[in-house]
Amino acid sequence: MTAAQRTQELRQEIRRHEELYYLQAAPAISDAEFDALMNELKAIEAAHPELLTADSPTQRVGGRAAEGFVTVDHVQPMLSLDNAYNEEDLRAFDERVRKGLAIEWSPSYVAELKIDGLSIALTYDQGQLVRGATRGDGTRGEDVTTNVRTVRAIPLSLRNGPAGRVEIRGEVYLPKKAFERINQEQEAAGEPLYANPRNTAAGTMRNLDPALVARRGLQAWIYQVVFPVGAPQQASHADMLAELKAWSAPVEPHWQQCDGIDAVVAFCEAWRERRASLDFETDGVVIKLNDLAQRERLGVTSKFPRWATAFKFPAERKTAMLHRIEVNIGRTGAATPFAMLEPTVVAGSTISMATLHNPDDIIRKDIRPGELVIIEKAGDVIPRVVGPANPAATDRPAKWVMPTHCPVCNSPLHKPEDEAVWRCDNSSCPSKLRRGLEHFASRGAMNIEGLGESLVGQLAESGLVKSLADVYHLTAEGLVGLERMGKKSADKVIREIEKSKANDVWRLLYGLGIRHVGERGAQVLADHFGSVADIQGASLAELQEVREIGPVLAEAVRTWFDEPRNLELISRLHAAGLTMKGERKVAPAGPQPLAGKTYVITGELSGMSREEAAARLQALGAKVTGSVSKKTTTLIVGTEPGASKLEKAAALGVGTVDEAGFLALIMKPS
Ligand code: IVH
Repeated sequence: MTAAQRTQELRQEIRRHEELYYLQAAPAISDAEFDALMNELKAIEAAHPELLTADSPTQRVGGRAAEGFVTVDHVQPMLSLDNAYNEEDLRAFDERVRKGLAIEWSPSYVAELKIDGLSIALTYDQGQLVRGATRGDGTRGEDVTTNVRTVRAIPLSLRNGPAGRVEIRGEVYLPKKAFERINQEQEAAGEPLYANPRNTAAGTMRNLDPALVARRGLQAWIYQVVFPVGAPQQASHADMLAELKAWSAPVEPHWQQCDGIDAVVAFCEAWRERRASLDFETDGVVIKLNDLAQRERLGVTSKFPRWATAFKFPAERKTAMLHRIEVNIGRTGAATPFAMLEPTVVAGSTISMATLHNPDDIIRKDIRPGELVIIEKAGDVIPRVVGPANPAATDRPAKWVMPTHCPVCNSPLHKPEDEAVWRCDNSSCPSKLRRGLEHFASRGAMNIEGLGESLVGQLAESGLVKSLADVYHLTAEGLVGLERMGKKSADKVIREIEKSKANDVWRLLYGLGIRHVGERGAQVLADHFGSVADIQGASLAELQEVREIGPVLAEAVRTWFDEPRNLELISRLHAAGLTMKGERKVAPAGPQPLAGKTYVITGELSGMSREEAAARLQALGAKVTGSVSKKTTTLIVGTEPGASKLEKAAALGVGTVDEAGFLALIMKPS
C-alpha cells in the first residue's frame, strides 16, 4: 500500500471514529487506539508533506492565536425565535400558523431540543469547511474559523455534500461533563468559576488561542441548511435533517415529527423531566413547521420566523431557609460570600449551599440571613439565591453587611477599584496558605501523596507550616502525633515530599499558584525558558512573545516574580533541593534553512492566518514582504488571491506555490 493510500484510509477511519464518538456517543475503540491512528497519520504526513491537506484530522488546530476576529456578513440574517412559556402559548402559536396558512387542521411540526449554546454558521465550499462565524447581531458575526475547526463533532469536509457553496447552521455547546472539569481546573488554579456551560462555550469560541479551544471539548449540533437562492430544497424539515445526517453533520437525535400541536405539547411535557438525563444543557424545545413550502408562505417578521417558536422550560425554583451567609477565602485571597441553606431538593439534587456572586448583589437583592429565600437552579448547574421569599414582610431580620475583616485571620478586607471582589491581602492568612498548600500538593501540581486536605489543615493550624517552603523542612518526628499520623504514615509522607523535589519544573511552576498559570501555561513557560531563574529574569515583553502566553498571563507572572516575598520562597525552595531547571523541548531559535529567501503571501490560506504563515516562514529565517519585486523568491497563493500580485509575479518571472506547496516548504524546507 502506498503512503497516499494509507493516508486516505487513516483519515476515513479517524473520521468514522470521531462520528461514533461525538455524533452517536458509541465509541468503538479506546482513546489509546484512537491516538495510535492519529499518531500514525501524523508520522506519514511529516514524512510526506505533499500529502498534507487542510481537511486532515491532524490539522484541526492549525493556526496561532489570532490578533482578533474579523467581522463577516451573513448570507441570510440569523434570526432569533419568539418564545412560548406554557401550553396556552403553544396553542396560540398553532392558531397563528393555521390562520396564516388558511387551514383548518393543525399541521405537521418538527420538535427539536433547544440547545443552550451559541449559534454558529458554517460554510462549506466543494464540501470543505471554509468558514465558521458566530451569530453576532444576526446580520454580521465574527469569523471564528480557526476555533470552529477544533470542534471535533464538526466535519472538516462534508461526506457527499453539495457541489458549490452551502451554509449550515447549528449550535456549539459545552457538554455538562466538560463544564464540570473546566470549573474544577479553575478552582485548582484559584480562578473564579464559570456560571454555566453556555457562557463558557461562548467565551471559549471567542478565545484567541485555538489550542485552548481544542482542549475545552466543545461540541456541536446542526439543525439547518441555508440553501443558496434557487437551489433545490428538500420538501420538509425532517428530510433536511436526514440529509444533514447523510453529509455526516452532527444532528441531535431526539427530534420528532409531531403531526399536530397536541403531539408538540406532549413532546414538551415529556422533555421537561427527561432533559436531566442528557449530557448537554437544553433550555426548551424549538417547534418548526415541517413543510418548507408552508414556511415560505408564512415568511418572517423583522425579528423572528412566523413558522417557528421556542418553548422555554421553567427553571426549577424552591423556597428554603437561609441559615447564614458565610465568606470563603480562596487561595488568591478573594473573599466570596455563599449561602448556607436548609438542605432542599431542586431539579433532582439536594442543595445546601448556593453562590451569592458578590456583596453588591446580595445588597441589591436584599437577601437577609434568617429568613426564607427563593433558590433556583440556573442553567440546571449552579444553584443560586434569587431573592427573599417574602420581601414585603414586616418582621424581617436585620440586613446583611459584608464583613470588614477576614473571617479567618481578621485582617481588614479590601476591594481593588477595578474588581467586584473583596480580598484578604495578608499573605500569611492561614486560609490562603491552606488553599495554596492543598493546590501545591495536588495531583496535577507537585503530586505529594498523603498531603491532602486533612493533613494540610493540621499543618497550617499547628503552625508547622507557615510557607510552602516549610513543607521541605518537615520531619517524620514532627508529624507523629498529628491526628491519624503514626510513624509509618509519617515516614511515607516524608518520602513522598522528598520524591517531589525531583519533579519536572513545570509542576513547581503550576504548584506555586501564580494567578492565571494553569498546567498548560506552566508547561509552556518551562519549555520555553528552561528554568525558574530565566522566567524570573524575563521582561514582560519577553514573556508576551512566547507562543500561547497571552498578555494577562505574562503580566501575572511578572507581577508574581516582582514580589520580594515570592523571591524569598523561590530561594528557600532552591536551597531545599527542588528541581529548578527543565529540559528545553522548544529551542528558542531553530535552524534557519530559509535564510536569504523572501516570500510574499496573497489570498487566504485555509489552515492558518496570513500572520501565522508569515511567522512560520520567519522562524525558519525567511523574510516576508507585502509586495512582489525582483527580490521575491516565491509568491504563496491562497484562495481569492490579489490579481495585481499574480500579474506582477508573472511579469517578473517569480514562481508561485499553492497552500500545499507552502506547507511542504515549512515542514521540510530545502
Ligand atoms: S432554529 C430561524 N433550532 O435558539 C430559526 N435554534 O432563541 C433559527 N437554538 O438563535 C433557529 N437550539 O441559537 C433552532 N434546535 C434549534 C435550536 C436553536 C438552540 C438557538 C439558536 C437561536 C436561539 C433562538
